[in-house]
Amino acid sequence: MACAVSVEKLSKTFGGTRALDNVSIAVEPGEMVALIGASGSGKSTLLRHIAGLVEADKTGDGAISILGRTMQANGRITADARAIRSSVGVVFQQFNLVGRLKVLTNVLIGNLGNMPRLKGCLSLFTGEQKKAAMRALHRVGIAQQAMQRGSTLSGGQQQRAAIARSLVQGARVLIADEPIASLDPSSARKVMDILGDLNRRDGITVLVSLHQVEYALNYCRRTIALRNGQVVYDGPSEALTPEFLGELYGAESEELFLPGLDAAAGKAEPKPRRAVASLAPAAAAAY
Ligand SMILES: Nc1ncnc2c1ncn2[C@@H]1O[C@H](COP(=O)(O)OP(=O)(O)O)[C@@H](O)[C@H]1O
Ligand SMILES: [Mg+2]
Repeated sequence: MACAVSVEKLSKTFGGTRALDNVSIAVEPGEMVALIGASGSGKSTLLRHIAGLVEADKTGDGAISILGRTMQANGRITADARAIRSSVGVVFQQFNLVGRLKVLTNVLIGNLGNMPRLKGCLSLFTGEQKKAAMRALHRVGIAQQAMQRGSTLSGGQQQRAAIARSLVQGARVLIADEPIASLDPSSARKVMDILGDLNRRDGITVLVSLHQVEYALNYCRRTIALRNGQVVYDGPSEALTPEFLGELYGAESEELFLPGLDAAAGKAEPKPRRAVASLAPAAAAAY
């Protein structure tokens, strides 16, 4: 079976900054993978490429394919990209909803990729589409808010609406860029629980960047770590060590383990994890 997400030798330079440096990753259908790394390590840039929003450097021979279809190659988005994008749901840290539109309408927007353009613009959604949107809102637990404006939702509810929109869209791959970064721990867990549920029950492939590493450890079996635009770890989350994470995050590492997070989750303090070699190539190979 084709990879859900395949990134090969991707490089992206902004001015003098090499945001991505020869990145290759392969995510199998049905996986839920965390993407971690300090601020500026390239997480958003990588996810935006995978979502088909950015073209890589033209000088490289990088390529991205989604479910076996080429989204971009050699720094050019393919003619197929629009069709491929409809199978990729995208959730950002914020600004996921159109604030003045109803939540239901925001979710119905998930249909636009699959509708003739004019009909989509006129918001002529069918009764069946509205029912499907309501089902999706139920699924993420915010059906009661369907008729409110997007701007009236809490941060966590907005993220859940964005996930519902991906469901309506029929996404088989969900890309989430720090979806819980602005949320309190309880809302963050709710959003991660929903992502986990879609992954397990619907087989949706999830690639989620997370600033707070505890969530990667708790929700994703596999973690990919970026540093300075390079993949420095790709393997089981449980093999990540505090030493590695401290090295990965440098000065930021004090924010990593939020006080009370584990207590709030009803879990014990994180145990010291088995040491792996620096930057862990062995663990990655064993995975
Ligand atoms: N549009 C852009 N223009 C210029 N530099 C950018 C742009 N987007 C990202 N960068 C740079 O690329 C690097 C990676 O950024 P980013 O992907 O946002 O990292 P992260 O999401 O891990 O914080 C950073 O040095 C950032 O400043
Ligand atoms: Mg980012």
